[in-house]
Amino acid sequence: MSVIIRTENLCKAFGESPVLRGVNLEVREKALSAVIGQSGTGKSVLFKTIMGMLKPDKGKVWYKDIELTALKNDALIAMRKNFGYSFQNAALFDSMTVAENLAFPLREVLRIKSRSEIRRRVTEILDWIELPGVEGKRPDELSGGMRKRVGVARALVMRPEVLFFDEPTTGLDPVLSETINNLVVRVNKELNITCVMITHDIPAAFRIADRIAFLDQGYIVAEGTPAEVVKSEYQMVRDFLRISFSELNV
Ligand SMILES: Nc1ncnc2c1ncn2[C@@H]1O[C@H](COP(=O)(O)OP(=O)(O)OP(=O)(O)O)[C@@H](O)[C@H]1O
Ligand SMILES: [Mg+2]
Repeated sequence: MSVIIRTENLCKAFGESPVLRGVNLEVREKALSAVIGQSGTGKSVLFKTIMGMLKPDKGKVWYKDIELTALKNDALIAMRKNFGYSFQNAALFDSMTVAENLAFPLREVLRIKSRSEIRRRVTEILDWIELPGVEGKRPDELSGGMRKRVGVARALVMRPEVLFFDEPTTGLDPVLSETINNLVVRVNKELNITCVMITHDIPAAFRIADRIAFLDQGYIVAEGTPAEVVKSEYQMVRDFLRISFSELNV
């Protein structure tokens, strides 16, 4: 599998606090990759820096053979059409209906004018995520799990090449988490979209991801297939795995 996104020595600090201290990450095209690590280590910051929502202090981000960190603002915004982002907190507009939430990126980012085309794409994606008929509902009328799925739908409706999921299952019960994890797998396998997922659900990451990257102290300290990462000698990775799979004694 070829590399679709690559970061090179990515550094980002807020004031005196370094968060990313030299992240070298390769995301394989069409793979499902998981980024894991302790809370507050900079996983969300890494995603936002890759997508250009945050500017790195140092280092480069490549998308295919384009260096995103070298692009001017307009060009970067245009490139971002290739990326979908499902936010940690779903981040839907509560004052809009589900249909309006999904139509928003089609209108504002893809500049689609035709109302029937927008309606068709909204209905198509809601059917695909198995939430038909919720077009007219507002996000606060939906359950947490449904909101998460609508959040995924809003990222998907633009048909991105790469879809970033920031903790899609946090705050959901185990059954709903499983539903969302399966949705991520379907996005990856059925729609052939490269998926990168931040998750605290370590067993799920090892079950569904093709590749795992572990972020600690501002660096990727372990990267590879689940079978490779399980063998890591890095202490924090070992601690994480021991606690997450305590019954398996890895
Ligand atoms: N815009 C910002 N301004 C200042 N500090 C920030 C900003 N965004 C993130 N940080 C800081 O960067 C660090 C990493 O945050 P980040 O949200 O990336 O962690 P995370 O690994 O995603 O954690 P979690 O697993 O809890 O979501 C934190 O200390 C956070 O306070
Ligand atoms: Mg986060």
